Amino acid sequence: MKRDAFESWARSELDAVEAALDAFVPAQTPAGLGEVMRYGVLDGGKRLRPLLVLAAAQAVHGQREAAMRAACAVELIHAYSLVHDDMPCMDNDVLRRGKPTVHVQYGEARAMLAGDAMQALAFEVLTPEGGLVPPQLQARLCGLLARAAGHAGMAGGQAVDLASVGQPLSEQALRDMHRRKTGALLQASVLMGAACGDTTPAAWEALSDYGAVLGLAFQVVDDILDVTQASETLGKTAGKDADNNKPTYVSLMGLERASRYAGELREQAQAALVRSGLVDVVWLSLLADKVVDRQS
Ligand code: IPE
Ligand code: IPE
Ligand code: MG
Ligand code: MG
Ligand code: MG
Repeated sequence: MKRDAFESWARSELDAVEAALDAFVPAQTPAGLGEVMRYGVLDGGKRLRPLLVLAAAQAVHGQREAAMRAACAVELIHAYSLVHDDMPCMDNDVLRRGKPTVHVQYGEARAMLAGDAMQALAFEVLTPEGGLVPPQLQARLCGLLARAAGHAGMAGGQAVDLASVGQPLSEQALRDMHRRKTGALLQASVLMGAACGDTTPAAWEALSDYGAVLGLAFQVVDDILDVTQASETLGKTAGKDADNNKPTYVSLMGLERASRYAGELREQAQAALVRSGLVDVVWLSLLADKVVDRQS
């Protein structure tokens, strides 16, 4: 029953996110860059980060306009990170979201520029003209997203990832890399949703903890799926981590221990939600289950 209600909430929110992204990512731009951006952003992806933003906003009765813009902004940063992650200078992947990667379809230069423009667009979306989102909230959302995407977060983690090819990392170093390259943006999704409403400091801390463990769990599961699932299921090339000689949770501790660890992180995420003292956290709780139980 709870799960049916969740699925119907998620379906309707995903439709709203899709419509908003479709409106935000321009078709008409100089030299057709918009077409490349739209290829990289629309029609694909699980949209987990937008759902986290919207579920967290709901838990704190946050402002809808700000939350929808935050949901789209974080997805734009994520989609840009995928476009660059797939390029030959990084993971060199040809398949993403069931389609040829952006650089395969449009060439490397346009893939790089589309990623750059998607990153900028995220901040355009967060800073609308007029009174749609209060200026203080705009600044807060921009700060949370910039810090999660930049040198200390996603981009920094991606730099560690590339510097670690062929090197076995300690568990601590691997955890740090995963927290940055993937966890930071997932944690920011939760906090951006929370920033759209009122929270006590204790609830904010607990949601921050929830986002951090969920974000780490997400990349642990991504490492697992890379070896357990087929490319058709994933919509991206399976087995790439071993091919590229990447240190992962599977290479560090093996499949069984990595799966157990993902389960432990799920429990920690659920405990953090209880600690938050917030009543309306069912969707966040089910999203934590989804992150760990997913097959793609
Ligand atoms: C893939 O993210 C890249 C990682 C951070 C592990 P997702 O698995 O969320 O990719 P999409 O958005 O559904 O395509
Ligand atoms: C990517 O990690 C994290 C990003 C910041 C994009 P991966 O390289 O494992 O992501 P996939 O497996 O290609 O989606
Ligand atoms: Mg990568
Ligand atoms: Mg990759
Ligand atoms: Mg991966």
